[in-house]
Amino acid sequence: MNVINLKDRTTASQYVAIELLKQIKSQPNAVLGLATGSTMIDIYKYLSELINVNHTKLNDVVTFNLDEYIGLAADHEQSYHAYMKENLFNHNSTWNEDNIYLPKGDAEDVEKECIAYEQCIQDAGPADIQILGIGENGHIGFNEPFSSFESETRVVDLTDSTIKANSQHFDNIEDVPKQAISMGLASIMNAKRIILIAFGSNKQEAIQQLLDGKVSESLPASILHQHPNVEVIVDDSALN
Ligand code: F6R
Repeated sequence: MNVINLKDRTTASQYVAIELLKQIKSQPNAVLGLATGSTMIDIYKYLSELINVNHTKLNDVVTFNLDEYIGLAADHEQSYHAYMKENLFNHNSTWNEDNIYLPKGDAEDVEKECIAYEQCIQDAGPADIQILGIGENGHIGFNEPFSSFESETRVVDLTDSTIKANSQHFDNIEDVPKQAISMGLASIMNAKRIILIAFGSNKQEAIQQLLDGKVSESLPASILHQHPNVEVIVDDSALN
């Protein structure tokens, strides 16, 4: 695990955007594992700018998102489908809808949707680069503490800490869905390269625990110690 303090959010976001762009430029059919949340917003902003300035074509790029809230349709403004459109896909006309995958949070049969999504990742994957944020409780995707290291895409219950952290994007905490469909820890570990990004002092504790090096299901991100190609990109405040 290669831990790099890039000091501030801007430098770190530009670094990750450049890594994603390089992957797409060198491999037009790259498979990208994407995340949502506050951490990713500047990364997607810089990536969109770089794609436009380079006139990079995205028709063959495949993307998989980590998760979606259960009960939210793709056009719900707090859905991760909407987030991805707003922050990334709407900014370049060559993203190919047929190659963009997110779990369907409003699927009639969510169990079936999880199996289909996992199959889809296995058919099109593995991801060449998977980007990850980290929860204050050490979750990656919505794999909350004590998720099995063997887990694949499935329905997960969100913890109170995750619901509270995500309530900033909703009018009321009661509006935050209590469940999500999330790629599992085993699904994430299949990626060829993983970049985990953490910004801000509220991530200090999770990053400290991760860097302590103990591998335990109580800290889902600690599974990354078992992956051969992981970078942890932090700003100064997430590390000190
Ligand atoms: C989102 C996801 C989550 C977030 C994490 C950090 O798709 O999978 O694991 O990356 O909750 O969220 P932010 O970036 O909002 O602090």
